[in-house]
Amino acid sequence: MTTMESLIGLVNRIQRACTVLGDYGGGTGDNAFNSLWEALPTVAVVGGQSSGKSSVLESIVGRDFLPRGSGIVTRRPLVLQLHKTEEGTEEYAEFLHLPKRKFIDFALVRKEIQDETDRITGKSKQISPVPIHLSIFSPNVVNLTLIDLPGLTKVAVEGQPETIVEDIESMVRTYVDKPNCIILAISPANQDIATSDAIKLAKEVDPTGERTFGVLTKLDLMDKGTNALEVLEGRSYRLQHPWVGIVNRSQADINRNADMMLARRKEREYFDTSPDYGHLASKMGSEYLAKLLSKHLESVIRSRIPSILSLINKSIEELERELDRMGRPVAVDAGAQLYTILEMCRAFDKIFKEHLD
Ligand code: GDP
Ligand code: NA
Ligand code: MG
Repeated sequence: MTTMESLIGLVNRIQRACTVLGDYGGGTGDNAFNSLWEALPTVAVVGGQSSGKSSVLESIVGRDFLPRGSGIVTRRPLVLQLHKTEEGTEEYAEFLHLPKRKFIDFALVRKEIQDETDRITGKSKQISPVPIHLSIFSPNVVNLTLIDLPGLTKVAVEGQPETIVEDIESMVRTYVDKPNCIILAISPANQDIATSDAIKLAKEVDPTGERTFGVLTKLDLMDKGTNALEVLEGRSYRLQHPWVGIVNRSQADINRNADMMLARRKEREYFDTSPDYGHLASKMGSEYLAKLLSKHLESVIRSRIPSILSLINKSIEELERELDRMGRPVAVDAGAQLYTILEMCRAFDKIFKEHLD
């Protein structure tokens, strides 16, 4: 791994440890850990229901594990942390709510997301803002925190409270309002871009477009004789970052369990042989999007290193105080967790000083 990769990896693990600690991670309390969490970039998908958000996230990860489909499938936020591990190690997943269980079979990960969603909301069309935390450890991922969110809607359907439209929007906003949040604004190509919920919201929370990536899905479903060049070439709606076109698996592909690698090959072929998009082929597709994101993330983290470093030093001080208060050595879980974070913060500080000063 490069130094940058191990730094990002470490920061990722610090974030995770802060989450495990509960009181610190993701909360609203004013302490160094929360500031640390907020100083690090995350990537959230935003868009209308069934625009292809979960499908895009899966492609970025390169594994099948998210519930997808028509209608409201994603009903709780999923905070997904990817941890890059050494070459040759086995890929596995772990949920925060099931800390002792290693998932090797990703079909079971999907099932657990569904079950855990139902556990809070019931088997209904209701939503809940309580996030599910999932970590994936793999040599084939980039260190990254991704957030899958319920889709924006326009009306409540049978079985949903009248407030659902606003509830979903405000839930999505709590994530994308944060300046550290990189927005993957997902719009389907078979709908007019002027009606895109993703672009509407992104424009509001990120008017300069510096943290918004426009993603156009369902290119394969456009009416014959039309194409998306106006959007993809930035003439319809200009963003700072280039638009990326995507062809995900169709519902028929999902029903017949078409696998990810096959889907990627088909997507590549689609662009390589397309009479409309041939000239853009090298800048289209899920794999390109993943690379674009990781490059962007790296530059964001690089620019934040000074502030991350000072937060880490603040965290170290807070941790020392907290441990003193608890009287060391502490055997309880929280104490052990604090030690872990402390060690990781120190490691970050050390790697940084050795390699990047
Ligand atoms: P989400 O609700 O935004 O998370 O969307 P999903 O990822 O669950 O996808 C909704 C439906 O659209 C599923 O049936 C997908 O198979 C289908 N879908 C998503 N993206 C594409 C695409 O690029 N092409 C085709 N043909 N279908 C897609
Ligand atoms: Na859906
Ligand atoms: Mg979804």
